[in-house]
Amino acid sequence: MFKFFKNTVDLAHDYLESCVPPGSVVVDATVGNGNDTLYLAQLVGRRGKVYGFDIQEQAIRATADLIAAHGFSDIVTLFHAGHEKLSGYVKEPVAAVVFNLGYLPGGDHSIVTRADSTVTAVRESLVILKPGGIVSIVVYTGHPGGREEQQALEEFLRTLDKRKFCAGKLDFINRDKAPYLIIIEKSL
Ligand SMILES: C[S@@+](CC[C@H](N)C(=O)[O-])C[C@H]1O[C@@H](n2cnc3c(N)ncnc32)[C@H](O)[C@@H]1O
Repeated sequence: MFKFFKNTVDLAHDYLESCVPPGSVVVDATVGNGNDTLYLAQLVGRRGKVYGFDIQEQAIRATADLIAAHGFSDIVTLFHAGHEKLSGYVKEPVAAVVFNLGYLPGGDHSIVTRADSTVTAVRESLVILKPGGIVSIVVYTGHPGGREEQQALEEFLRTLDKRKFCAGKLDFINRDKAPYLIIIEKSL
Protein backbone atom coordinates (compact mmCIF):
# COMPACT_ATOMS: atom_id res chain seq x y z
CA MET A 1 0.00 0.00 0.00
CA PHE A 2 1.52 3.32 -1.11
CA LYS A 3 0.39 6.85 -0.35
CA PHE A 4 1.70 8.51 -3.56
CA PHE A 5 2.30 5.61 -5.98
CA LYS A 6 -1.15 4.13 -6.24
CA ASN A 7 -2.17 2.48 -9.48
CA THR A 8 -1.80 4.52 -12.67
CA VAL A 9 -5.52 5.28 -13.04
CA ASP A 10 -5.67 6.62 -9.48
CA LEU A 11 -2.64 8.79 -10.17
CA ALA A 12 -4.45 10.24 -13.20
CA HIS A 13 -7.42 10.97 -10.95
CA ASP A 14 -5.20 12.89 -8.52
CA TYR A 15 -4.21 15.26 -11.35
CA LEU A 16 -7.80 15.58 -12.57
CA GLU A 17 -9.02 16.48 -9.08
CA SER A 18 -6.57 19.36 -8.94
CA CYS A 19 -7.75 21.03 -12.15
CA VAL A 20 -11.40 20.04 -12.71
CA PRO A 21 -13.75 22.08 -10.52
CA PRO A 22 -17.42 21.11 -10.07
CA GLY A 23 -19.51 22.32 -13.01
CA SER A 24 -16.75 21.61 -15.58
CA VAL A 25 -17.19 20.08 -19.02
CA VAL A 26 -14.91 17.06 -19.58
CA VAL A 27 -14.39 14.25 -22.09
CA ASP A 28 -13.78 10.53 -21.55
CA ALA A 29 -12.15 9.57 -24.87
CA THR A 30 -12.20 5.80 -24.14
CA VAL A 31 -15.25 4.92 -22.03
CA GLY A 32 -14.74 1.12 -21.98
CA ASN A 33 -16.63 -0.25 -18.98
CA GLY A 34 -17.48 3.26 -17.81
CA ASN A 35 -15.36 3.46 -14.67
CA ASP A 36 -13.63 6.69 -15.71
CA THR A 37 -16.89 8.11 -17.07
CA LEU A 38 -18.57 7.57 -13.70
CA TYR A 39 -15.57 9.00 -11.88
CA LEU A 40 -15.72 12.12 -14.11
CA ALA A 41 -19.49 12.51 -13.62
CA GLN A 42 -18.98 12.42 -9.85
CA LEU A 43 -16.11 14.92 -10.15
CA VAL A 44 -17.99 17.53 -12.23
CA GLY A 45 -21.28 16.96 -10.40
CA ARG A 46 -24.84 17.89 -11.36
CA ARG A 47 -23.90 21.24 -12.94
CA GLY A 48 -21.17 19.68 -15.10
CA LYS A 49 -21.14 17.74 -18.33
CA VAL A 50 -19.31 14.61 -19.50
CA TYR A 51 -18.92 13.52 -23.13
CA GLY A 52 -17.81 9.94 -23.77
CA PHE A 53 -16.53 8.10 -26.85
CA ASP A 54 -16.03 4.44 -27.71
CA ILE A 55 -16.02 2.48 -30.95
CA GLN A 56 -17.61 -0.59 -29.32
CA GLU A 57 -21.35 -0.72 -28.83
CA GLN A 58 -20.82 -3.11 -25.90
CA ALA A 59 -18.79 -0.42 -24.12
CA ILE A 60 -21.35 2.30 -24.78
CA ARG A 61 -24.17 0.08 -23.49
CA ALA A 62 -22.29 -0.99 -20.34
CA THR A 63 -21.35 2.60 -19.60
CA ALA A 64 -24.89 3.90 -20.18
CA ASP A 65 -26.18 1.29 -17.71
CA LEU A 66 -23.56 2.17 -15.09
CA ILE A 67 -24.22 5.89 -15.45
CA ALA A 68 -28.00 5.38 -15.21
CA ALA A 69 -27.58 3.20 -12.10
CA HIS A 70 -25.79 6.11 -10.42
CA GLY A 71 -28.32 8.72 -11.58
CA PHE A 72 -26.00 10.69 -13.87
CA SER A 73 -27.67 10.12 -17.25
CA ASP A 74 -28.71 13.75 -17.55
CA ILE A 75 -25.14 15.06 -17.50
CA VAL A 76 -23.44 12.31 -19.56
CA THR A 77 -23.62 12.13 -23.36
CA LEU A 78 -22.14 9.01 -24.96
CA PHE A 79 -21.08 8.76 -28.61
CA HIS A 80 -20.64 5.45 -30.37
CA ALA A 81 -17.81 6.96 -32.39
CA GLY A 82 -14.03 7.10 -32.59
CA HIS A 83 -12.32 9.74 -30.48
CA GLU A 84 -10.42 10.86 -33.58
CA LYS A 85 -13.72 12.52 -34.59
CA LEU A 86 -13.86 14.48 -31.32
CA SER A 87 -14.02 17.93 -32.89
CA GLY A 88 -17.14 16.94 -34.85
CA TYR A 89 -18.99 16.24 -31.60
CA VAL A 90 -17.62 18.47 -28.85
CA LYS A 91 -17.85 22.16 -29.70
CA GLU A 92 -17.18 23.77 -26.33
CA PRO A 93 -14.04 24.33 -24.25
CA VAL A 94 -13.31 21.49 -21.82
CA ALA A 95 -11.37 21.29 -18.56
CA ALA A 96 -10.00 17.79 -19.19
CA VAL A 97 -9.84 14.94 -21.67
CA VAL A 98 -9.14 11.45 -20.34
CA PHE A 99 -7.66 8.54 -22.31
CA ASN A 100 -7.16 5.00 -21.05
CA LEU A 101 -5.48 3.25 -23.98
CA GLY A 102 -5.41 -0.41 -24.96
CA TYR A 103 -8.28 -2.90 -25.05
CA LEU A 104 -11.57 -3.24 -23.20
CA PRO A 105 -11.02 -5.40 -20.09
CA GLY A 106 -13.31 -8.43 -20.40
CA GLY A 107 -13.93 -7.64 -24.07
CA ASP A 108 -12.35 -8.40 -27.45
CA HIS A 109 -8.60 -7.92 -26.97
CA SER A 110 -8.07 -7.45 -30.70
CA ILE A 111 -9.96 -4.14 -30.59
CA VAL A 112 -7.36 -1.70 -29.31
CA THR A 113 -6.61 2.00 -29.51
CA ARG A 114 -4.23 2.74 -32.40
CA ALA A 115 -1.33 5.07 -33.04
CA ASP A 116 -2.86 7.24 -35.79
CA SER A 117 -6.33 7.69 -34.25
CA THR A 118 -4.87 8.26 -30.77
CA VAL A 119 -2.53 10.99 -32.03
CA THR A 120 -5.38 12.64 -33.98
CA ALA A 121 -7.63 12.53 -30.92
CA VAL A 122 -4.97 14.00 -28.62
CA ARG A 123 -4.27 16.74 -31.17
CA GLU A 124 -7.99 17.58 -31.32
CA SER A 125 -8.25 17.47 -27.52
CA LEU A 126 -5.55 20.12 -27.18
CA VAL A 127 -7.56 22.47 -29.41
CA ILE A 128 -10.71 22.34 -27.25
CA LEU A 129 -8.81 22.27 -23.93
CA LYS A 130 -9.31 25.37 -21.75
CA PRO A 131 -6.24 27.23 -20.51
CA GLY A 132 -5.13 25.43 -17.35
CA GLY A 133 -6.85 22.22 -18.44
CA ILE A 134 -5.21 18.80 -18.77
CA VAL A 135 -5.25 15.75 -21.01
CA SER A 136 -4.45 12.58 -19.06
CA ILE A 137 -3.40 9.41 -20.86
CA VAL A 138 -2.90 6.00 -19.25
CA VAL A 139 -0.58 4.18 -21.66
CA TYR A 140 -0.21 0.39 -21.95
CA THR A 141 2.46 -1.08 -24.19
CA GLY A 142 1.93 -4.84 -23.76
CA HIS A 143 -0.64 -5.46 -26.50
CA PRO A 144 0.11 -5.70 -30.25
CA GLY A 145 0.62 -2.17 -31.56
CA GLY A 146 1.09 -0.77 -28.06
CA ARG A 147 4.75 0.16 -28.55
CA GLU A 148 4.04 1.84 -31.91
CA GLU A 149 1.22 3.80 -30.32
CA GLN A 150 3.49 4.91 -27.47
CA GLN A 151 6.22 5.99 -29.90
CA ALA A 152 3.85 7.90 -32.18
CA LEU A 153 2.24 9.62 -29.23
CA GLU A 154 5.50 10.72 -27.62
CA GLU A 155 6.90 11.80 -30.98
CA PHE A 156 3.86 14.03 -31.46
CA LEU A 157 4.06 15.41 -27.91
CA ARG A 158 7.71 16.37 -28.40
CA THR A 159 6.59 18.74 -31.19
CA LEU A 160 4.25 20.75 -28.94
CA ASP A 161 5.05 24.43 -28.43
CA LYS A 162 6.52 24.54 -24.92
CA ARG A 163 5.09 28.03 -24.31
CA LYS A 164 1.57 26.62 -24.76
CA PHE A 165 1.79 23.06 -23.42
CA CYS A 166 3.80 21.03 -20.96
CA ALA A 167 3.76 17.27 -21.57
CA GLY A 168 5.19 15.03 -18.86
CA LYS A 169 5.14 11.37 -17.99
CA LEU A 170 5.23 9.33 -14.84
CA ASP A 171 6.65 5.88 -15.45
CA PHE A 172 7.53 3.13 -12.99
CA ILE A 173 11.03 1.76 -12.66
CA ASN A 174 10.36 -1.39 -10.66
CA ARG A 175 6.79 -2.29 -11.65
CA ASP A 176 6.95 -4.61 -14.62
CA LYS A 177 4.21 -4.15 -17.21
CA ALA A 178 2.43 -1.39 -15.24
CA PRO A 179 0.87 1.22 -17.52
CA TYR A 180 2.38 4.69 -17.27
CA LEU A 181 0.83 8.13 -17.16
CA ILE A 182 1.14 11.08 -19.54
CA ILE A 183 -0.21 14.47 -18.47
CA ILE A 184 -0.40 17.40 -20.88
CA GLU A 185 -1.19 20.77 -19.33
CA LYS A 186 -2.32 23.77 -21.35
CA SER A 187 -0.79 27.03 -20.22
CA LEU A 188 -3.00 29.62 -18.47
C1 LIG B 1 -8.68 0.35 -21.65
S1 LIG B 1 -10.29 0.49 -22.32
C2 LIG B 1 -10.96 1.87 -21.45
C3 LIG B 1 -11.31 1.60 -20.01
C4 LIG B 1 -12.27 2.62 -19.44
N1 LIG B 1 -11.70 3.93 -19.33
C5 LIG B 1 -12.87 2.20 -18.12
O1 LIG B 1 -12.83 2.97 -17.15
O2 LIG B 1 -13.40 1.09 -18.06
C6 LIG B 1 -10.00 1.18 -23.92
C7 LIG B 1 -11.25 1.45 -24.73
O3 LIG B 1 -10.90 2.24 -25.86
C8 LIG B 1 -11.81 1.92 -26.87
N2 LIG B 1 -11.32 2.42 -28.18
C9 LIG B 1 -10.45 1.85 -29.05
N3 LIG B 1 -10.26 2.64 -30.12
C10 LIG B 1 -11.05 3.75 -29.93
C11 LIG B 1 -11.30 4.93 -30.69
N4 LIG B 1 -10.70 5.14 -31.87
N5 LIG B 1 -12.16 5.84 -30.19
C12 LIG B 1 -12.77 5.64 -28.98
N6 LIG B 1 -12.58 4.54 -28.23
C13 LIG B 1 -11.72 3.60 -28.69
C14 LIG B 1 -11.92 0.41 -26.79
O4 LIG B 1 -13.09 -0.02 -27.45
C15 LIG B 1 -11.93 0.20 -25.27
O5 LIG B 1 -13.24 0.12 -24.79
